[in-house]
Amino acid sequence: MNKVMFVCLGNVCRSPMAELVFKDLVEKHHLSHEFHIESSGTNSFRENSPVHIGTKKKLNSVGISSSSKKSQQFRKSHYDQFDWIVCMDESNVNQVLDIIGKDSKHKISKLLDYTNHPGDIDDPWYTDDFDSTYSDVIEGCEGLLKVIIKSQSLK
Ligand code: 4NP
Repeated sequence: MNKVMFVCLGNVCRSPMAELVFKDLVEKHHLSHEFHIESSGTNSFRENSPVHIGTKKKLNSVGISSSSKKSQQFRKSHYDQFDWIVCMDESNVNQVLDIIGKDSKHKISKLLDYTNHPGDIDDPWYTDDFDSTYSDVIEGCEGLLKVIIKSQSLK
């Protein structure tokens, strides 16, 4: 079982998009039984909130429902519970490190590390550009799934 936790700041824009896009991708590869996938935010100010309307609309346009997703905060215990802690930007990485201490098992990465343009995913909470977020998220998710499939000889 591959346990994947996507992390952003508020868990209402980017990481829930990544969670739901990755779940959809894994399902399309008939690999759902091999995965446990969640997302969370490093800040608690939005705990238990639905996804941002921009994320909801973008996901709806590609046939993915977000109605059951509620935000949760990233907790220290998640570090042991998950194999892959996939952040959206460098500040998420630093905030996760503040929460857990050290990444002794090298579980932390950023979603765009799995593409040919590593870096940060801009926050649409501020840019309002959910199309660009989706384009980064789908590319990162496809790359991440390829890496996991290859590393474990799945399929
Ligand atoms: P996210 O975006 O980290 O991609 O979910 C944000 C969501 C909420 C806030 C900031 C960023 N906020 O300030 O409430």
